Amino acid sequence: MLVLLIVEIVSTAYYRLIRSHCGDDPIREMCRLILRDEAGHITFHRERLTARYPTGAPSLWSLGFFGLGTACVTFLWLSHGRWLKPLGIPASELFVFSLQGLRHFRRRLRRDEPQAGTHDFPNPRATTSSLSIR
Ligand SMILES: [Fe+2]
Repeated sequence: MLVLLIVEIVSTAYYRLIRSHCGDDPIREMCRLILRDEAGHITFHRERLTARYPTGAPSLWSLGFFGLGTACVTFLWLSHGRWLKPLGIPASELFVFSLQGLRHFRRRLRRDEPQAGTHDFPNPRATTSSLSIR
C-alpha cells in the first residue's frame, strides 16, 4: 500500500506539471481526468493511514515514505525525463513538486491537522512561483 500511495502522489505531481506545461487541450483534459481520480485515491490513503496512526505516522514509516518517494521520482525522471524536457519541465521542477506533495501528505496525517476545505496535494497557486503551475 505504501508503494501505491507514493505512486499516487508522485504521479499527481507529474500530471500537474504536464497539464501546466503542455498547450495541447486534449492532453490537458486527459491530465485533468487523471488528477480527479488520483485525488480520490490519495484521500483514501490519507483516511486509512490516519485511522491507523491517529497521532501521526511513526518516524520509521516516514523514513521509508520519503526514501521510496525520492526513489520513485528518480526512476520517473530517468524513464520519462526525455519526454518532459521538450515540454520545458526540468528535473528540478519534478523533484521539488513531488517532494512538496510527499511532505504535504505526511504533514496532513495527524488527525488534529485541518482537513475540511483543504486538499491532499499542495495547492499549486500556493507554491513558489518558480514552479510555474497554471
Ligand atoms: Fe491512482
